[in-house]
Amino acid sequence: MTRAVVVPVLTIDGPSGSGKGTVSRLVAERLGWRLLDSGALYRAVGYAAGAAGLDLSDVDAVTRCAESTRIRFQPSVDGQDTRVLVNGHDATDELRTETAGAAASAIASIPSVRQALVDLQLGFRKAPGLVADGRDMGTVIFPDAAYKVFLTASAAERAKRRYKQLKEKGLSVTLSGLQREIEARDARDASRAVAPLKPAADAVLVDTTGMPIDEVVANVFAVVRP
Ligand code: C5P
Repeated sequence: MTRAVVVPVLTIDGPSGSGKGTVSRLVAERLGWRLLDSGALYRAVGYAAGAAGLDLSDVDAVTRCAESTRIRFQPSVDGQDTRVLVNGHDATDELRTETAGAAASAIASIPSVRQALVDLQLGFRKAPGLVADGRDMGTVIFPDAAYKVFLTASAAERAKRRYKQLKEKGLSVTLSGLQREIEARDARDASRAVAPLKPAADAVLVDTTGMPIDEVVANVFAVVRP
């Protein structure tokens, strides 16, 4: 009798600025597993909808956009980075902005948009394993994941981290403006009816406030390889 091989999944959920992105990438590299940056999918749909001039509250139009947008992840030429192609256009830099984050959060509250992205996300589960970064990885998309982590940090600390990242990219932002945007986005993500931001019952919680990134990575790594 043949038994289906279950591909292991590590889900890393949490609010923006909790360190998920960096930690997921480092842990995936160390394990040699694939990486799913699910936030980039919502950002890509928000971006594509904006580029098409759609009203982001037009449920039917945005759903059709989510169903038809072609999203591809591809290594950069120097191999240091992952580029996100949206309908063939390299939109990586546009997707990182706070405007794209806000558009993503707006369209992510539409259930049919979330549904349109399910199969794409499930398709990332391939041997030898997957690290899935997002808001609902452990609760909705991969509820059977063997390893689940929920990262948190204070809003003030998360705003500081985003500020540093965006400044390094040469973007003009203010710390107080960022903190307000982060708090508004968290409130919307946590209060929506479908797939709200919340830890899975079986997730290991890690508060990363004041914790250096290598310590966060060590904590997460210990969940998979105790
Ligand atoms: O993680 P990131 O900041 O790129 O996510 C952008 C937005 O996409 C989030 O604020 C959230 O509204 C949405 N999102 C989501 N479900 C996920 C990943 C992201 O709703 N799994």
